Amino acid sequence: MNDNKTNINWFPGHMTKTRRMIAAEIGKMDAVCEIVDARIPLSSRNPDVEELAGGKPRLLILNRVDQADPVQTKRWAAWFRDRGYAVLEVNAKTGEGTARFSAAVRTLLQDKIAAWQAKGQVGRTVRVMVLGIPNVGKSTFINRVAHRKTARAEDRPGVTRSKQWVPVDQTLELLDTPGILWPKFDDPQVGVRLAFTGAIKDDVVDLEDLASRLMDYLRRRYPDALSERYKITPAEEDSGYDLLTQAARKRGFLMRGGAVDTERMARILLDEFRAGRLGRFTLETVEDLEA
Ligand code: G4P
Repeated sequence: MNDNKTNINWFPGHMTKTRRMIAAEIGKMDAVCEIVDARIPLSSRNPDVEELAGGKPRLLILNRVDQADPVQTKRWAAWFRDRGYAVLEVNAKTGEGTARFSAAVRTLLQDKIAAWQAKGQVGRTVRVMVLGIPNVGKSTFINRVAHRKTARAEDRPGVTRSKQWVPVDQTLELLDTPGILWPKFDDPQVGVRLAFTGAIKDDVVDLEDLASRLMDYLRRRYPDALSERYKITPAEEDSGYDLLTQAARKRGFLMRGGAVDTERMARILLDEFRAGRLGRFTLETVEDLEA
């Protein structure tokens, strides 16, 4: 296993530019809508958005709820609400939860909108900046709330390079921003969790190491899912790599000479996990945070 690779240090371009753009535009916004992955609600946030968006009313979209543990999603929703965020639980792929977006924005901004109306500014447009790391489902979400049928070329992942205004209705406009993740992983586990979900590309991580870590997490939190899917019986003393080896054996992944093909199993575990074939899991919990 390659320790250097697992200590993820991932530095994409366009980062500084995007941060500057957010800082320059934020003053004109009425609210900020941050889209996070419900499976990793903290690790999937850009680290200094808190500071950049400081003071603005905030809407937090817990996206991919279909892939996350429903019990944990409720806990996270409450955790963010306690911290002053308006929260929506969403599956952008099916559209579940997205219909409540406009109303949620207007509720969040009701005092401001009432103040506008009192000044005679009836029908003034509400502007919301939408932020989200790549692959979190930002384009899918925006297409849903703006009732756009198909993703345009510029909405494809990684293609939205600059800011873009998207009308939702006559008095609500979104400012779409490039989906960029800038690293400030004080906690190395953040990078690992992003890699579990595929938010960090597999070519910058060691797959067997990553899959072993995922096995280890699943053994601790969701052992039944491993028994069901891979017909293995995880024991307390089994390392993640042991479990990867056991699963590979069960699947008959042997190489010439009889060695177990753990790399193939690693790929399969990650693919199946990301495709939701093992079940619905949350990879960081409120309890972990408060422990
Ligand atoms: P981005 O703009 O944030 O980069 O992400 P994008 O919307 O392109 O979504 C990335 C992938 O995640 C897409 O899948 C999309 O369908 C899927 N996705 C978005 N939101 C959700 C969700 O709430 N639940 C689930 N399960 N998936 C979601 P894809 O495989 O790239 O495309 P497609 O096969 O769906 O067309």
